[in-house]
Amino acid sequence: MNSTVRKQPEKPASFWVAKTAVIREITAEVSGVTTYQLALIDAAAAQSYRFEPGQFNMLYLPGAGESAISMSGDPADCETLIHTIRVAGNVTRSIAALKVGDTLGLRGPFGTSWPREACRGKNVILVAGGIGLPPLRPLIYQLLAQRDEYGSLHLLYGARTPEMRVYTREYDRWRAEGLEIRETVDRSSPGWRGNVGVVPQLLERLTGFDPAQTVLLICGPDLMMRFTARAALQRGMTGAQIWVSTERNMQCAVGLCGHCQLGPEFICKDGPVFRYDQISPYLKVEGL
Ligand SMILES: Cc1cc2nc3c(=O)[nH]c(=O)nc-3n(C[C@H](O)[C@H](O)[C@H](O)COP(=O)(O)OP(=O)(O)OC[C@H]3O[C@@H](n4cnc5c(N)ncnc54)[C@H](O)[C@@H]3O)c2cc1C
Ligand code: FES
Repeated sequence: MNSTVRKQPEKPASFWVAKTAVIREITAEVSGVTTYQLALIDAAAAQSYRFEPGQFNMLYLPGAGESAISMSGDPADCETLIHTIRVAGNVTRSIAALKVGDTLGLRGPFGTSWPREACRGKNVILVAGGIGLPPLRPLIYQLLAQRDEYGSLHLLYGARTPEMRVYTREYDRWRAEGLEIRETVDRSSPGWRGNVGVVPQLLERLTGFDPAQTVLLICGPDLMMRFTARAALQRGMTGAQIWVSTERNMQCAVGLCGHCQLGPEFICKDGPVFRYDQISPYLKVEGL
């Protein structure tokens, strides 16, 4: 496995134990998607908590179950843990019913991180589809905090409709800090003057593209990631310059139950961030 994707060390027994977190703030993003600001109640646990962009927590509600949810806040502020959650089923629906002041269990962080070292000195293109933007947002914060260390920075973002784009309130600031944002939607709506079409087209049309000097990081549905990677390969990049964040059903999150297996890899401990040339043969395989 590539050395720039940081593998997690063996987990101590404490990683099985959910810590209690309280909801400090709730922000409605778009239909069915909400952002939660959490704080660990135990002061020592809160102070020692650290995460890297791309990692995830397991959020637990008694009686409902546990779900993998990516970190989507700023790694520079680990005392506030931010998660953006789309209602999918039992656990996420139960979380959606919580209020400020309610508590939930939290295990983590787990998984590999986006390869920031590989980005240093390069042009970086982040590609997100829909709810694929939250796992990339911590990296956006990190890249912009040290803007001089990178070449051009692009975010190519696709959503079903203009109304389904998340974090739009931050785009002006990101642009001002040096992130070029190109957007596309599957279906337009009144007032939308941007692109209509699929995300890989944004990459196909990107001007000033230097394949040898570019790193591509993709997060979204498998199909979108495959087509985006294919567009990048056609433009001269190699699979070793592309990273993807994968998703499958999770249970233990520590490499023991096998639920998240993708080919020979366990997404919870070998991923979720993988280098494309190492994971692409398995991306067509549905979760076990
Ligand atoms: C590493 C990782 C990071 C994630 N980050 C986020 C995040 O930041 N925000 C967010 O909203 N969601 C995220 N997810 C997805 C989230 O874990 C699932 O949507 C959630 O577990 C669903 O739980 P549930 O009980 O609400 O729904 P369930 O009842 O478990 O599932 C509802 C439906 O979604 C399907 N499903 C469940 N989990 C997945 C999955 N991982 N991939 C594809 N289909 C699935 C089920 O088969 C079922 O059809 C992430 C998943 C992984 C593996
Ligand atoms: S979730 Fe159990 S092995 Fe990955």
